[in-house]
Amino acid sequence: MRASRLGNRAGIATAVDAIVAQELMDPEIASYFYFQVTPGSNGMPPVNGHPSVAQLKSCLVNQLANAAGGPEAYPGAPADNMGWQCRNMADSHRALRIPGSVFDRFVMIAAGVLTTAGVSAADIAVIGGVLNSTRTAIVDPARDGGAFMPPTDASAGGG
Ligand code: HEM
Repeated sequence: MRASRLGNRAGIATAVDAIVAQELMDPEIASYFYFQVTPGSNGMPPVNGHPSVAQLKSCLVNQLANAAGGPEAYPGAPADNMGWQCRNMADSHRALRIPGSVFDRFVMIAAGVLTTAGVSAADIAVIGGVLNSTRTAIVDPARDGGAFMPPTDASAGGG
């Protein structure tokens, strides 16, 4: 798939903004963005070892643009993502312990946003394929649903 089919990098960034905003409307999905919204950590990154929302959106744009055949590199370098070194999908989601049902809802919400935005069914299928290809790396098979389970010591930055 060429990047132009997705409406180039600016189009991907606009889509990622809309997708993340919609994902955060779902309280259960939003609970997983714990390290981005933890009170008392107003800087960037919000908690040591975790990206800010802006940084993770930048990672996601580069990842999708790369998959779309654009010149972007993933995981690239910190300079590509507001100082954050993007990680692979297993490393960046391990501490979150995301259930499969939550993952699947995340992908459904993304597809819904793209449909509303007028993205073609063919492009949505390609993006859905990219998202779904990360399922094994991201999902914790030991969980069957529910919200984020916060670490007992958030200052440790782990989970
Ligand atoms: C559907 C496929 C998904 C893709 C392609 C994806 C992609 C990404 C990318 C590129 C990053 C930044 C990498 C990094 O942190 O270094 C990231 C981080 C993150 N993602 Fe995902 N993600 C997906 C699913 C999900 C789901 C289902 C959730 C929550 C329900 C989620 C929540 C997060 C959070 C909270 C972070 C920040 C991690 C941290 O604080 O350390 N992601 N994701």
